[in-house]
Amino acid sequence: MKYNQEHYVIKGGNPLKGEVGIGGAKNAALAILAASIMTDETVTLENLPDVRDINVLLEAMQGIGVIVERLDRHTVKINGSLVRNVSIEYESIKRIRASYYLIGALLGKYKEAEVPLPGGCNIGSRPIDQHLKGFRAIGADVSIEGGAIVAKAERLIGTHIYMDVVTVGATINVMMASCMAEGKTTIENAAKEPHVVDVANFLNSLGANIKGAGTDVIRIKGVPKLHGGIYSIIPDQIEAGTFMFAAAITQGDILIKNVIPKHLESISAKLMEIGCSIEEFDDAVRVSRTGELRSTHIKTLPYPGFPTDMQPQAGVTLALSGGISTITESIFENRFRYVDEITRMGASIKVEGNTAIITGVPRLSGAHLSSPDLRAGAALVLASLSAEGISVVDEISLIERGYEDFDMKLRNLGANIEKTSGDRQLKKMKLKLAAV
Ligand code: UD1
Repeated sequence: MKYNQEHYVIKGGNPLKGEVGIGGAKNAALAILAASIMTDETVTLENLPDVRDINVLLEAMQGIGVIVERLDRHTVKINGSLVRNVSIEYESIKRIRASYYLIGALLGKYKEAEVPLPGGCNIGSRPIDQHLKGFRAIGADVSIEGGAIVAKAERLIGTHIYMDVVTVGATINVMMASCMAEGKTTIENAAKEPHVVDVANFLNSLGANIKGAGTDVIRIKGVPKLHGGIYSIIPDQIEAGTFMFAAAITQGDILIKNVIPKHLESISAKLMEIGCSIEEFDDAVRVSRTGELRSTHIKTLPYPGFPTDMQPQAGVTLALSGGISTITESIFENRFRYVDEITRMGASIKVEGNTAIITGVPRLSGAHLSSPDLRAGAALVLASLSAEGISVVDEISLIERGYEDFDMKLRNLGANIEKTSGDRQLKKMKLKLAAV
């Protein structure tokens, strides 16, 4: 069966109430998995999310001889001592953005790597010049040959690198590539996202010497080798944020467990501005909404600003908030692809350049929708949960790239959502939900 034949069928209108547990951070896990092959000893990773991007990367790693043993759904043992070659030739690796982390990991350990150019969500042009600039600065020859990035070095030597833009991917990649380089590497204008810190903590737990992750200057002192260890991945900021907006858009009350509230501050702040109540606990947040939603203005920024990966979920919620809101997308140019879809549900949104001007409407009505990308797809699910009538969301394989058991978690909170495959099942499920 083809993935893209699967749909979510959703009957909107139920306020979501109850508790939901958040999984490990996909974007931290992807980098940490790649970094685990930088030691010949075994690494055990806990709190790994069971989502498609992670499983694609694990398969690609097995393809080059990495031994992967799944201890349970969220725990894997990785051993990279038998890596046979440093050239990744795996079709599906092209579909995930984070394949580029294998370049940093392989280059850092073996001083050579060949990895197909990354794919991932179609949310903008997504250049990788800063990654290549960093690899070259520490001594690698880097070229693009036959659709792959080829990097090679006699020696990797620490140096001073200034990132021209704040980039999560390049910060992590250069941090990995330089942690066994000779001497000291300094990354200036580094990204400060929680997953940058998590990757640094992970590498340090294997014996690396990285200081300053979480600030805009990261200092790395090269060490000769890394050893094995056990590491638990941080909770997923974006999965948590998505459920926070699910509470807001459905007029619900959700206790979101296994989170780091500090990572959610920019999201909590905006939810409070539009009229939600937020209660913070040590490792949980509760989001509830009783009244009408108000408008606000959002600009996406690198951490600790409002995350671009939360922009579509915020956009669909503001579509139902009284007054005029604006969202300015300053990270990726192609992140408003949910706007056409939600307009068909009755939203009033005009996009001018990198700003969406949103005039709140009292209600949305169900429609047949297609997920444009991972986060936009999740946002369309939220819109459908709040809409009148039945919606169908297609291309849900994109959503499953980053959300584990999304439909089940929403059902447990009281949503009428079912996953179907094929036209016959879809018709049956629409009739079933219409009768609920
Ligand atoms: C990662 C996340 C993605 C998130 C994004 C921003 C993963 C797998 N993906 O993507 O979900 O939306 O961070 O938080 O972790 N840029 C350059 N040159 C480069 C690299 C980036 O100009 O070499 C630009 C990009 O076009 C973008 C900005 O820098 O405008 C930020 O990109 P970056 O933080 O690198 O995003 P990703 O690592 O691709």
